Amino acid sequence: MAPNKITRRDWLVGTSSSLIALKAGIANPATSPEVQQPAASQESPEIIADRERRMKWWHQARFGMFIHFGLYSVVGRHEWVMEEEGIPVPEYEQLAKQFNPVPNSARAWAKLAKQAGQKYMVMTSKHHEGFCNFDTKLTNYCASKQAAGRDLLHEYVEAARAEGLRFGFYYSLMDWHHPDGARCANDEDARKRFVEYTHGLIHELMTNYGKVDVLWYDVSWPLNAQKWESERMNKMVFELQPDIIVNNRNGVPGDFSTPEQQITAAAKGRAWESCMTLNGSWGYQRADDSWKTPKTIVRNLIQCANGGGNYLLNIGPKGDGSIPPESVTVLSDVGKWLARNGETIYESEPCGVSHSDYAGFTRKGNTLYMHVYYWPGDYVAISGLKTEVKSAHYVATGGKVSFQQEQFRVRFTNLPKVAPDSPVTTIAIECAFEPTQDTLWVRQERPRAGVGV
Ligand code: GLC
Repeated sequence: MAPNKITRRDWLVGTSSSLIALKAGIANPATSPEVQQPAASQESPEIIADRERRMKWWHQARFGMFIHFGLYSVVGRHEWVMEEEGIPVPEYEQLAKQFNPVPNSARAWAKLAKQAGQKYMVMTSKHHEGFCNFDTKLTNYCASKQAAGRDLLHEYVEAARAEGLRFGFYYSLMDWHHPDGARCANDEDARKRFVEYTHGLIHELMTNYGKVDVLWYDVSWPLNAQKWESERMNKMVFELQPDIIVNNRNGVPGDFSTPEQQITAAAKGRAWESCMTLNGSWGYQRADDSWKTPKTIVRNLIQCANGGGNYLLNIGPKGDGSIPPESVTVLSDVGKWLARNGETIYESEPCGVSHSDYAGFTRKGNTLYMHVYYWPGDYVAISGLKTEVKSAHYVATGGKVSFQQEQFRVRFTNLPKVAPDSPVTTIAIECAFEPTQDTLWVRQERPRAGVGV
């Protein structure tokens, strides 16, 4: 996202003053997860240790699948179609009589996730449209009581488990359908009812599906954390699911930050996950052809891993539950790359090397992985590497790579004309110590000759 671009999310959570602040590039304390995150020192060692315990698998996983599925999937015009086209509620509701995906469509999603090298899935339980994909006692506007006649979330949970994947539920606090969904902002009775309804749905989600790995809140309009009673909400969640992790979009920090459509590492010590679409929309949008390439996805994944973050990549199945073929192609290609190069991503650690115009970097212990995405043949080089290189090899083939190291650069030489791997070729570089990089040191200290050549 361009720094000055105001997203739909910003608009939703923004007052006019916060919008001015956003335009000026000033963080809005009410909406910026980083600002909300308490300083590490404010948290007790027990809380920090418990978070580390709960999040261990997630940090190792690095790559997950996001699934946006709901009534909007039938329409195929983006998950915001109800609001963006001003569709009256009674008209939109009719979609519930049509939404009947092929039974167990989720199996193909889970299989694709597995094949793509994704280790967990997060599916919309209820998006802004207010329709519940799950069986609930609290509304009839849910899959089990409409055309589908069954609990779609349950199918998803079974599918994820069958593939050995972790899974989570996305839940939108904002609700365009519920009668109290907007008036709760100005009517205390409505607020109480709506908060009870919301906490009640979340209670069901946390009770009816066995162990759940992630709860992924979204848009908190029109209330703030205090009015949503978000602390109480999370307390209930953790009582019911002691191992779960939660994000920050119910207005309290939770366990991780959620940069959207951009890759921005959170402050040191704070977990983060960048969520992104494969084309331009989350829900199925039939005419959207702005598909990202496998190379872009691999590069994004590398960039997330470089900063110690995760990458949650979305698919938007069609109303019948099938996955757009373009998504299948891209994810399959990414999976093939990960099958050869997974050791460079999973369980990787934050990396102190990042400067290059043709490569990205990840790290595990003292091993630096140089991911070359524009293969020049001949040689590649790293500037300002502050450790001795011991050896180097191609991850895909195991073949040795020769190198020469000087004070300010290390070059990997005799490279073949054609890249040994695709879409990115990775060189594993064994270093004497944890690799770090200092390009300013190079600029300042590289000996300069006198004027003239
Ligand atoms: C935004 C959008 C929403 C999408 C979400 C994913 O908040 O409003 O449609 O589900 O991002 O992060």
